[in-house]
Amino acid sequence: MGTAGRIEILPDVAGVVTRSRALIVERLQTAIAERGIATIALSGGSTPQPLYEQLATENLPWEKIHLFWGDERYVPYDHPDSNYRMVKRAWIDRVGLPSENIHPMPTQFADPASAAIQHEADLRIFFTTYFADSPPTEWPALDVILLGMGDDAHTASLFPGTAALQVRDRWITVGEKSGQPRLTFTIPLINAARSVIFMLAGANKQAALQHVFALEADDFLYPSRFIQPQGELWWIMDQAAAQGLPETMA
Ligand code: 6PG
Repeated sequence: MGTAGRIEILPDVAGVVTRSRALIVERLQTAIAERGIATIALSGGSTPQPLYEQLATENLPWEKIHLFWGDERYVPYDHPDSNYRMVKRAWIDRVGLPSENIHPMPTQFADPASAAIQHEADLRIFFTTYFADSPPTEWPALDVILLGMGDDAHTASLFPGTAALQVRDRWITVGEKSGQPRLTFTIPLINAARSVIFMLAGANKQAALQHVFALEADDFLYPSRFIQPQGELWWIMDQAAAQGLPETMA
């Protein structure tokens, strides 16, 4: 099932960051206006770091904004590979986000599977607490889930051919990249979001993107194809990444 959504192609990575920032700020403000709080899950990797630095300069009601992570490398929070550490340095340390609004994936358990179970339990408590008036739901709708895409078409820590791609009855599961464990949102949790925003740049994404947007391709080989949210799906990319996509998609 080829992906759909709204595709915006910007001249360069700076344009991708600026556009992604605008989309995110709009959606956070709408969520706060409608429900009193906003929830956003963040991606790791290198592309979003300047975005987080720019979001830190926004004048937003930080006490109403809750940060989550769509995936996390299974390392301590002070490890150079930690997505939490990257966001803390680029964003959290620069604004007055209350600590209770920051929901990192736990990586202190000996067993990543126990960490996934614990994080899901914590998220269930969060959503039942903050949305007590809403009907109970199997899948909570985060306001924004920001995703990157690897040059192998993975997203979050949903890597090609891995067991995490089969998990449909959990919110959080254990992914793995080259044998290294990671924690990740599952496909159904991502697809329950109000807005999913893919943010990517660089010619190294071209081949993967062509498979992700192809009418026919194996979703298990190109996991970003599984991302078909209930809500909005945005693909914000630069010209370098978009090279080779059908003109109709531009
Ligand atoms: C991670 C990310 C991962 C990332 C892609 C793209 O933990 O690494 O969540 O899914 O988004 O690998 O990374 P770049 O943006 O650095 O290309």
